[in-house]
Amino acid sequence: MSDLIEGFLGKSVEGKKSRLPAKLDFVQSATGLFLGLFMWGHMFFVSTILISNDAMYAVAKFFEGSMFLEEPNPGLVSIVVGFVFIVFIVHAAMGMRKLPANFRQWQVYRTHMKMMKHDETNMWFTQAITGFAMFFLGSAHLFLMLTQPGTINPYGSGDRMVTMWPFYIILLLAVELHGGIGLYRLCVKWGWFEGSDAKATRKNLKKVKWAITVFFLVLGLSTMAAYLKVGMAHSDKAGERYTPTAIVIDMNAKVQS
Ligand code: HEM
Repeated sequence: MSDLIEGFLGKSVEGKKSRLPAKLDFVQSATGLFLGLFMWGHMFFVSTILISNDAMYAVAKFFEGSMFLEEPNPGLVSIVVGFVFIVFIVHAAMGMRKLPANFRQWQVYRTHMKMMKHDETNMWFTQAITGFAMFFLGSAHLFLMLTQPGTINPYGSGDRMVTMWPFYIILLLAVELHGGIGLYRLCVKWGWFEGSDAKATRKNLKKVKWAITVFFLVLGLSTMAAYLKVGMAHSDKAGERYTPTAIVIDMNAKVQS
C-alpha cells in the first residue's frame, strides 16, 4: 500500500522522498570512474603497437595468461571484456535517465544552452551526444572483442583497422570527449582536488581536462595510423596469424642448419 501511495505522490507515507535517485547517481559516478580509468589503461596497452608489433603481441598474450599458462587462452580476454561490458551497460543505463525524453524537453534545454553560453551546460550537451554514439559504437567494439579475442594481435587488429577505421575515428572522438568531461564532472561533483577558491579550482581542472583529452586524442590517432600501416602492408594476407620475430628468426635458423 505504501508503495502505491509513493508511486502516485512521489513521497512515502512519512512524507519522505525516495533515496533511490541518489543511489543511482552514485552508481553512475562509480561505473564512470571505473570506465574512465580503464580507458587510460586501454589506450596505453593498445598503443604498444607504436613501439613494435612484438611489443603489442606480448601485451595481447599477457592478457591471455602467458605468464602462468603453457598455452595462452583468449577466453581469459573474453572474461575481462564481459566484465567491462556489464559495467558499460550499467553506466549507459544510468546515463539514459538524464536524457531529455521528448522534443519539448530538448527544445527547453537547447534554448537555455544558447541563452546561457555556460561552459558546464555546453559540456552536458557534448556528454549526451557522445554517450548516445558510444551506446552503439562501444557496444559493437566490445561485442567484437568479446567474441573474437583470438584476433587481437598486430595483424588481426591491423586488418580490422583497415576495414573499420571510420568507425574507430568516431569512437575515439566520442570516448575522449566523453571520458575527459566525465572525469572533470566527477571532480567537481564530489569536490575532489577542491582548493579554497572553487572558481580557480574549476578553471585549473578544465585546463587539465583539455590537456588529457588532447594527449589521448594524439596518442589514439597515432595508434590508429600504426595499425593502419601494419594492416595495409599485410592486406594481401588478411586473416594470417601473427608470428613474433623471435620465433621467425628461430625457424629460419633451423631451416638453414
Ligand atoms: C576489455 C575490453 C576491451 C578490449 C579487450 C579492447 C581492445 C581493443 C583493441 C585490441 C583495439 C585495437 C583495434 C582492434 O583490434 O580492433 C582497440 C581499439 C580501440 N578501443 Fe578498445 N577494447 C576494450 C574496451 C573498449 C571500450 C569500453 C571502449 C570505449 C567505449 C574502447 C574504445 C576503443 C577505441 C576508441 C579504439 C581505437 C584506439 C586507437 O585510437 O587506436 N575499447 N580496443
